[in-house]
Amino acid sequence: MRKEFLAFAPPSLGEEEILAVTNVLKTDWLSSGPKTAEFESLFAQAVGAEGALALNSCTAALHVALLAHNIGPGDEVITTAMTFCATANVIEHVGATTVLADVNPDTLLIDPLQIEKRITKRTKAIIPVHYAGHPCDMDRINAMAAKHNLVVIEDAAHCMPSKIGDLSVGATKNLTCFSFYANKNMTTGEGGMLTGPKELLEKARVLALHGMSRNAWKRFEKGGSWRYDVPAPGFKYNMSDILASIGIVQLGKLDGFYRRRCEIAARYDKAFKESMTLKPLTVLEGFQTSYHLYVVQLNLEKLSIDRDQFIVELAERNIGCSVHYVPIHMHSYYQNKYGFKPVDFPHAFGAFQRILSLPLSPRHRDQDIDDVIAAVNEVGEKFKR
Ligand SMILES: Cc1ncc(COP(=O)(O)O)c(C=O)c1O
Repeated sequence: MRKEFLAFAPPSLGEEEILAVTNVLKTDWLSSGPKTAEFESLFAQAVGAEGALALNSCTAALHVALLAHNIGPGDEVITTAMTFCATANVIEHVGATTVLADVNPDTLLIDPLQIEKRITKRTKAIIPVHYAGHPCDMDRINAMAAKHNLVVIEDAAHCMPSKIGDLSVGATKNLTCFSFYANKNMTTGEGGMLTGPKELLEKARVLALHGMSRNAWKRFEKGGSWRYDVPAPGFKYNMSDILASIGIVQLGKLDGFYRRRCEIAARYDKAFKESMTLKPLTVLEGFQTSYHLYVVQLNLEKLSIDRDQFIVELAERNIGCSVHYVPIHMHSYYQNKYGFKPVDFPHAFGAFQRILSLPLSPRHRDQDIDDVIAAVNEVGEKFKR
């Protein structure tokens, strides 16, 4: 058994990020300024987006994306039951109604058929989530949105780099929201990016900085005017140059991070190919997953313990795991407001009993992954039914 605890998803940061931060600290500009602008431009280039807006979280990106599309009270927004609470919370923040759709049981991605069933006269938007970094079926979702005149906002918190065919997630006309939270594929500690058409991004940019018509960098630089107007009461969602400087370095390292994620996923795939205990998520032909998460579904019929106990057993063997996610309809706020019952979304509910996410970070060495595989197999064998 391994001696040290294996963290689930430690961030990959080095001297380069430390130097980048130190360099910003030596300048006179710490908030959104030249580094943030550089990060936005490099990120837009990396995903092939028309433009990009750096923010302090993906949650902020989702929130201002809904506001930029004027979505609010009386509107319905359809999203997946299998996502992090932030995706649904922002729908509530703008005063719209959260409508959930169930997932495909093999990929845990939102099922386009289930979306279609929930479209009403009040539906204004769909928020597909590229769960674990595997893109949703955007051809079908975009076609459905066009037919019913709906907005699509993509939750790409797990992407980087995810692709459909040769097209990167983030490259289309849909506003797309990325996360640089500490455990994401690239990180700024906390942070996010919104990509999409320039016009919508400019609206979002104003909303993300108090609603001010002119940002501080433009006001305080030589020749800048101190005067500004507030056409709408906005939020304080901007990214600082300190964090942007980390993002620039992380973006430069992303290819290497992604290659290592693929190697780790391949190692797991090979080990669990014939497993009676668990089944990894299905990766569909024509899609590039970013392998943000390596999610497996336990075969509970073949085990005498449940998922929670399986995680405890792995922790006792010094393996850190996680669960992504408690489905939205199982949180008390959503149950109380919408009267959801667990069986309303049977695939999301069923998967929730079985899923766990195994350790996955470019920091993990082959031996770490082999330790995970050995522990998973040992627990599976010990509690075989
Ligand atoms: C699917 C999904 N959406 C949104 C978010 C929110 O991201 P952030 O923490 O950057 O606000 C997360 C974060 O974990 C996520 O997993």
